Amino acid sequence: MYNPNMLILGIETSCDETAVAIVEDGIHEIASVLASSADFSIETGGIVPEVAARKQLEFIIPVISKTLEQSHLENSQIDAIAVTVGPGLIGSLIVGVESAKALSFACNKPLIAVNHLIGHIYGNFVDSKKAVEFPALVLVVSGGHTDLVLMKGHGNFEYIGGTLDDAAGETFDKTARLLGISPYYGGAALSKVASECKESNPILKLPRPIMHSNNFDFSFSGLKTAVRTVALAKKFSFELIAKEFEEAIVEVLVFKTIKAAKKYDAKSILLGGGVSANRRLREVIEQESEKNGFNLHVPPLKLCADSAVYIASAGFFNQNKLELKDIQPNPSLGIADEIK
Ligand SMILES: Nc1ncnc2c1ncn2[C@@H]1O[C@H](COP(=O)(O)OP(=O)(O)OP(=O)(O)O)[C@@H](O)[C@H]1O
Ligand SMILES: [Mg+2]
Repeated sequence: MYNPNMLILGIETSCDETAVAIVEDGIHEIASVLASSADFSIETGGIVPEVAARKQLEFIIPVISKTLEQSHLENSQIDAIAVTVGPGLIGSLIVGVESAKALSFACNKPLIAVNHLIGHIYGNFVDSKKAVEFPALVLVVSGGHTDLVLMKGHGNFEYIGGTLDDAAGETFDKTARLLGISPYYGGAALSKVASECKESNPILKLPRPIMHSNNFDFSFSGLKTAVRTVALAKKFSFELIAKEFEEAIVEVLVFKTIKAAKKYDAKSILLGGGVSANRRLREVIEQESEKNGFNLHVPPLKLCADSAVYIASAGFFNQNKLELKDIQPNPSLGIADEIK
């Protein structure tokens, strides 16, 4: 069903960001506003779920109002509302889901339930110059998840592998803390240190965990432990360790993604999630995709981390018709789980 000029208001509150956006036909961003309580998490060295939920409550109405104001649209011009139902922090999700339900009920507009991880993929569909050809092999690399899925079309996702322990983003963050680079959400800071490091030393070689296993799973907890052991030995600079760590994680991610794309005869490769902002990952996957004949799609930097823009887009392309009473937050929703 293609409904031209369909305006969807997306709401994203899965973690410590309160984001609302309006997207036309799933592909044109009309307005987008985001408030974040991340600063409070820096103070505490990590997210305190209750603080994040209370901040969501404080921000949600002003952010919805500001988004409508920015779009110059009235409530009545919105055709549907899309909301993240999971995965995420339960308190934060409840705020978004209940606000979306109230809005849907009061304005008599349908409500579409969106899986946050599927949302990450739609960062590739908004204001993009290239059309995505299916089947597409998708790597979602975020703070809490690392999944490979085969996307045969909209609403048609097959899980083919994922991390057995830590997510890639979590591994970046924990390693950044371990190396003294940044206490919280240090992925980007670690990457900056790595890219500025001019040293090289072939003796320093970190493991590429389960890179040659004959499945599409990942395991990163051992890599983190290996970094710790090397750091404690004090033989190499923390910059050099950061650089080799980034090489190791990127090599494993790209190797398995390309292998999966070949096995499943994918036409395209798509990246999604916060770690897809990583410069080295984008560089290596671009080289390998080109070499192996896959069309690569990477989200613009502003659509790698959490955003309501791609939640609205995912809502447009995956319109489920659930009754309001059946739409519930699900903190442990998996990437290929059906929303029910
Ligand atoms: N340039 C970068 N290099 C490596 N990691 C990065 C970079 N930029 C952001 N990250 C990491 O991305 C993660 C945040 O991504 P995202 O916002 O998608 O995760 P999340 O929403 O917390 O988790 P999920 O989407 O799994 O629920 C953090 O771990 C952060 O350190
Ligand atoms: Mg996310």
